[in-house]
Amino acid sequence: MNMDIVLGLQWGDEGKGKFIDLISESYDITARFNGGANAGHSIERNRKRITLKSLPSGIFMKNVQNVIGTGTVLDPVSFRKEILNLQLFDETVQPEKNLVISKKAHLVLPTHRLLDIFMEDHPDYTTIGTTRNGIAQAYSNKILRQNLRVCDIESVDFKSRVQQILQRDYRLLANGDMVLPSLEEISSEFFEAVEFLKKFTRTETEIFLNTALSEGKKILAEGSQAAMLDIDHGTYPYVTSSSTTAAGASSGLGVSPKKVGEIFGIAKAYCTRVGNGMFPTEIFDYLGEEIRKKGNEFGSNTGRPRRIGWLDLPALRYAIMINGVTQVILTKADVLSGMKSIEVCTHYELENGKIVSVSGTLPENARPVLKSMEGWGGDISSIEDASDLPDELKEFLSFLNSELGIPVTYLSIGPGRNQILKIKELELVK
Ligand code: GDP
Ligand code: IMO
Ligand code: MG
Repeated sequence: MNMDIVLGLQWGDEGKGKFIDLISESYDITARFNGGANAGHSIERNRKRITLKSLPSGIFMKNVQNVIGTGTVLDPVSFRKEILNLQLFDETVQPEKNLVISKKAHLVLPTHRLLDIFMEDHPDYTTIGTTRNGIAQAYSNKILRQNLRVCDIESVDFKSRVQQILQRDYRLLANGDMVLPSLEEISSEFFEAVEFLKKFTRTETEIFLNTALSEGKKILAEGSQAAMLDIDHGTYPYVTSSSTTAAGASSGLGVSPKKVGEIFGIAKAYCTRVGNGMFPTEIFDYLGEEIRKKGNEFGSNTGRPRRIGWLDLPALRYAIMINGVTQVILTKADVLSGMKSIEVCTHYELENGKIVSVSGTLPENARPVLKSMEGWGGDISSIEDASDLPDELKEFLSFLNSELGIPVTYLSIGPGRNQILKIKELELVK
């Protein structure tokens, strides 16, 4: 049996949560492999919406085991709030029964969050526009081999090790002009949250997952963030601090690449990005504002307005290439409905006229070349059969299939659970 993977192909918030919610019922396990509370995956339940941060999107399914894997970073304080919020949202969820946490996942400590804010606001550092969840600080301490992991919460000297780190970090933080909470305040909140965390199963998730595979169970690996935010392959330094790619799924979960099956890449019909950094197809005029409003493009996690741009095919081809994506899931087609024409960046053109068709960065002095395509009219959000889609949208999907070399297999036409269509290539033929 294989492990399938769902990943974002742009700069995050492509609708991964919604798609995972749709397909997770046919898996035995959903496993997060990277990131932490910087993610915000929206799920609709009983016509209400919740945003999951560290929890896998299969958490509502009684028969699905959910794994917070080794490649993630876990903030006990944020985790506790998330679980309490989840239980308020739906009292039937039982995370004590269907959630397993890797003992090797790294902890986000209270000072990681404070240092994130400190660095974002301090003129000596590059401002990334982070979610201020202490993600980079937890991962950098992991790489420095100075961090604590979930397994450490059992050790007798855990409290003193935490206190030592908090005091050390406070000495650093004292160099800024941040108003800091008292050390007692943040440590008591943290230790309370750690006690709460102890109610959940903690194990060697690598063994849990590989045993499940050998028993014929199906795993869905859930990516957070996206290809263009990957620490190695994204638009550095304006990236997150984890491996967001298919290779990151293998490494973050300890499951061999040999076991990977389908790789679902999620992309919007346009692009968005929150935070700073390169965005070649960004729209600066009123149209961007219109799309932002219609698509409700405000960060699920931080509420920040998302920047809007046209679909960027060189970046999308790059994301498909580095991940080995086998199917594309295109979301938010409904948001572009009613526009007379839409634009797509087909390639970048260098100063000397050379064409770049696959790239994760806009080469120096290059310009994105936009192709104008006929828009589609009407309200597509209640269409139930792909054959009923407007011809212009079918044209757009066929165009993408040939430009990307792999098929768009699902089209999402609204935020609702059922607003998604399975696309068969035949249906695209007029
Ligand atoms: P994720 O981080 O990739 O899981 O995506 P987010 O949940 O952060 O952001 C996607 C947003 O778009 C959420 O508010 C979803 O409810 C919404 N959404 C998902 N698919 C569609 C779609 O096809 N159309 C519209 N209008 N909204 C969608
Ligand atoms: P999901 O999983 C969109 C962005 C931040 C910032 C950069 C670094 O919901 O798609 P970090 O807090 O990770 O150090 O911030 O990455 N970012 C996201 N953007 N969706 C996300 O997650 C993101 N997680 C981080 O805005 O630009
Ligand atoms: Mg999101």
